[in-house]
Amino acid sequence: MIKTLWMFGLLAGLLVQPTFADERADAQDRQDRFIDELLEKMTVDEKISQLRLVSVGPEHPKETLIADIRQGKVGGIFNTVTRPDIRLLQDQVKESRLKIPLFFAYDVTHGHRTAFPISLGLASSWDLEAIGRSGRISALEASADGLDMTFSPMIDVTREPRWGRASEGFGEDPYLTARIAEVLVKAYQGDSLRDPHSIMAVFKHFALYGATEGGRDYNTVDMSAQRMFQDYMPPYKAAVDAGAGAVMTSLSALNGMPGTANSWLLRDVLRQQWGFDGLVVSDHGAVLELMRHGVAADPAAATQMSINAGTDMNMNDDAYLHELKALFDSGKVPMAVLDAACRNVLVTKYRLGLFDDPYLRAGVVADDPADRNAESRLHRADARDIARRSMVLLKNADSVLPLKKSGTLAVIGPLADSQNDIIGSWSAASLPNQAVTVLRGVTEAMGDRGRVLHAKGSNLSNDPLIQQFINAYEVVSPLDPRSPEQMIDEAVAIARQADVVVAVVGEARGMADESGSRASLQIPDAQQALIAALEATGKPLVLVLLNGRPLALGKEHEQADAMLEAWFPGTEGGHAIADVLFGDYNPSGKLPMTFPRTVGQVPLYYNHLNSGRPFRPENRGKYTSNYFDVEHGPMYPFGYGLSYTDFEVSPIRLSSKTLSSGGRIEAQVTVRNMGSRAGETVVQLYLQDKVASISRSVQELKGFRKIALQPGESRDVTFDVGIDALKFFNAALDFQAEPGVFKIMVGLDSVDVRSDEFTLE
Ligand code: BGC
Repeated sequence: MIKTLWMFGLLAGLLVQPTFADERADAQDRQDRFIDELLEKMTVDEKISQLRLVSVGPEHPKETLIADIRQGKVGGIFNTVTRPDIRLLQDQVKESRLKIPLFFAYDVTHGHRTAFPISLGLASSWDLEAIGRSGRISALEASADGLDMTFSPMIDVTREPRWGRASEGFGEDPYLTARIAEVLVKAYQGDSLRDPHSIMAVFKHFALYGATEGGRDYNTVDMSAQRMFQDYMPPYKAAVDAGAGAVMTSLSALNGMPGTANSWLLRDVLRQQWGFDGLVVSDHGAVLELMRHGVAADPAAATQMSINAGTDMNMNDDAYLHELKALFDSGKVPMAVLDAACRNVLVTKYRLGLFDDPYLRAGVVADDPADRNAESRLHRADARDIARRSMVLLKNADSVLPLKKSGTLAVIGPLADSQNDIIGSWSAASLPNQAVTVLRGVTEAMGDRGRVLHAKGSNLSNDPLIQQFINAYEVVSPLDPRSPEQMIDEAVAIARQADVVVAVVGEARGMADESGSRASLQIPDAQQALIAALEATGKPLVLVLLNGRPLALGKEHEQADAMLEAWFPGTEGGHAIADVLFGDYNPSGKLPMTFPRTVGQVPLYYNHLNSGRPFRPENRGKYTSNYFDVEHGPMYPFGYGLSYTDFEVSPIRLSSKTLSSGGRIEAQVTVRNMGSRAGETVVQLYLQDKVASISRSVQELKGFRKIALQPGESRDVTFDVGIDALKFFNAALDFQAEPGVFKIMVGLDSVDVRSDEFTLE
């Protein structure tokens, strides 16, 4: 009987499977037929128009764009963020000959109406569920505003804290960034892109923008293919594998060829090697910038290079609109290339469900929110929960934290009450006036149990260069007209009345943004003076850091009793920080980027090669790879972060000392919470290929697990190690594993590890 049922099940399975595959093939056929028929009907001008991606603004006033849309001269729009505005533009399509719907895109990078922590903060959580949740909520909020697409995630691996856009990425590690890329692409896109609550992910910036030389934005990248594929490409590949619908090119040049004209990147790697079948958009103005790069003499050459290289859509500079027709007529851009680019735009719209319903996300007037900024549209509870998971406790001498909710607390610093700064950069749709500052968060948490005093203490900086930069476009950080001495005197007087001083210091949000490159990694001068004056009061000093990059904190580490890296934590930042300061949440974040001691050590990253003369602590003399004028190594290593409890990791238990090429081994540790508070930590797995055909990194992250433990509780954590984790790109760029001895390390940061060895046979 059982056998008969089993046979029946098998048969049913066989019958069902082909049906499902057939359905998918049918859907693909329908899509192909639809696009083929549409392409047939299109004139060359109409095809060219589909490649135009523009933003309403001074260069493209609304009235001009409306006229253009009626003539079918626009493919997609970005930076229009409300349902009425989106509907108004989409309505104009009805006047055009073929009525091809527009899509609407925006930079939804760490939240939309609700700001979550900046990406570097999200990465610090090492919490894929929380990061995915932030992405899903972003998609819900953005699609509710009529948006179809986000220019996110930015998954440029970077080892450059000087680079302002380090804040927008997920740090220095390819494995961690790749896992986050997968999670965010799936969170944005949901189960189906045709769902009104899904938005398409445009991952960026392809490729290697984060390797920009010297951390100077838009600068050159020159790199070996091995390093590129091993350390920088995995997140982009992961985004493709996760089904991302689109990609944005990089403004920077790679080995002399800018991303937007780089056919090796866009055709050979992205489409041929990785099988990407979505849309490629240029970055803002990137086509015409090919002239400044010095690879194109004029707009026509820039256009020819970009489209022939595989950049389908042209963002905002209208080079394609003006140049493509003549290039096509003269045969410099073949019909096949134009058709392929246009097809990619049409497929994108098809996948987004816009041909069936151009108003799928913009909806109807009757469903519009009465107030698009209404409180009820925010996701405050999730924002608070995710923000507190993203904070990293850097120091906590004598358990000065958590604080008591009684007595007198002085909350001081230019960032203590700044709603503009706490939400972070690229958060245009989130309103600063809905953000909770640290002062407010702490005051609410204390209630009437204690007293909170406040002084600004200093401006963000006394340096006119910095002051000018952060207020260049709009006054985001108004200058206090008082003298630095007056401000410090006031702060010190207030600090003297307090039991504990909490100083909220760091960077203005605009300092860690596009083009926000810094030559210094220090907290700006004015705030350094403030910290020194606060330290001199002798009161316990807690620094809460708001910033968008690793800073050089050697001096502050000496001055402060405790330091909490809170990044730019978003709309609910102040509540989340208060939760951590008072112990309502036990901090669990870990650094996704190395913190150097001084800017002179940069680039400083954990997964470096060994060199022939590595530093040896027992011999600080000559002839090792080291700076003689600074203590060796980072201030805080990759993966580092403290808790209010202590965790202990057992030695590694390996299921076998040998691994065959088809097999797997298990590496297990027991993690115990040794303290008296519940807490979470991140158990990290690293590998090193000890001897290979080319030099390999001293350690590479290959797995991690975030676990929660009650006081005294212990848990076994098991990592499965198979051959894929041992593979690397050899000199011939084959991705393969070589037999030999591997070191395996498991611990709570990249330095504090247990280790063992096994052999790949
Ligand atoms: C940035 C992109 C962004 C685009 C559109 C550019 O300046 O480099 O990351 O998506 O603007 O806002």
